Amino acid sequence: MGYFLAVANRKGGVGKSTVSVMLAHAFAVWGGKRVLLIDLDAQSNSSLILTGNAQWIEAQRTSKNVAAYIEDKMYGQNPISDYIQRGVGDIETDDGKAPPIDLLAGSLRFEDMQDELISHYSLSARSFRIAKERCAEHFKRALTSSGRLADIIILDCAPGISNATAAALRLANKVIVPFRPDSVSEFAVDKISTIIEGKNAQGVAEIPPTERRYRCLANYVRPGGQDQIYIETISADHPTLNTQLPMLPDLANAFYWAEERQTLTEKYASALSPMNALYKELSASLPL
Ligand SMILES: Nc1ncnc2c1ncn2[C@@H]1O[C@H](COP(=O)(O)OP(=O)(O)OP(=O)(O)O)[C@@H](O)[C@H]1O
Ligand SMILES: [Mg+2]
Repeated sequence: MGYFLAVANRKGGVGKSTVSVMLAHAFAVWGGKRVLLIDLDAQSNSSLILTGNAQWIEAQRTSKNVAAYIEDKMYGQNPISDYIQRGVGDIETDDGKAPPIDLLAGSLRFEDMQDELISHYSLSARSFRIAKERCAEHFKRALTSSGRLADIIILDCAPGISNATAAALRLANKVIVPFRPDSVSEFAVDKISTIIEGKNAQGVAEIPPTERRYRCLANYVRPGGQDQIYIETISADHPTLNTQLPMLPDLANAFYWAEERQTLTEKYASALSPMNALYKELSASLPL
């Protein structure tokens, strides 16, 4: 069974999609792992980074996307492999090969599909709560079947806590929580930690940090004192990776898909070194 790594934060624009794709690249190229990225966000940013616009539009037309898969699973048993795109990305290894990265693309229909799923389960459930629970189970079952397709399954979650994100958080072996070092991030991290661990804040605090299912990751870090103060505040209460991702134009540029495959050095430029530090820290601490 592959290792499920979710990248999540209720807060938007903290680097979830950037980190998801970066980890897909790192584990495939440096780790030689088979990686599957599942894009659980209607905005489809990680799909667009990995395939560009034209291929993403094609994935909508041909129903090779996560909304079509989850929806079809209400009525039949189509295998997840029918919906996956193989060998995606604009990266090549140093010896010119395409790394083993597969994608279950995001879809603009993802939010409507979640509403339809709730209606479907509401027909037979006695209460909304039960319908929601069945809906989350449906997601979990559907996503679990991806476990045999790759060594690492990266779940790029949408901001907020949708049924899909709730299911991803339940399924994940580990959750990476990227955050911006600012005054509101502390609340966002506090909140998602309670959802991941399924306990209130007091209950989370009683779990030794190393045994928690999540690790925080400071992103957009600028030189100077203030950011480190926010990071220290969060890491006092939450397990936080030593690696910090600096605010770098090269990391923002890596968000864009290139027509021709490039090496990691070409794509990430000055962001390669923090990316490598993140990869090394995770591969040393996770059973991958
Ligand atoms: N360390 C960084 N330095 C500079 N730009 C960054 C960095 N990390 C992410 N970005 C940029 O910030 C923007 C938001 O990042 P991203 O889309 O990955 O966040 P997100 O959490 O997935 O957002 P959403 O909640 O909308 O899904 C993107 O334009 C990305 O290129
Ligand atoms: Mg995103």
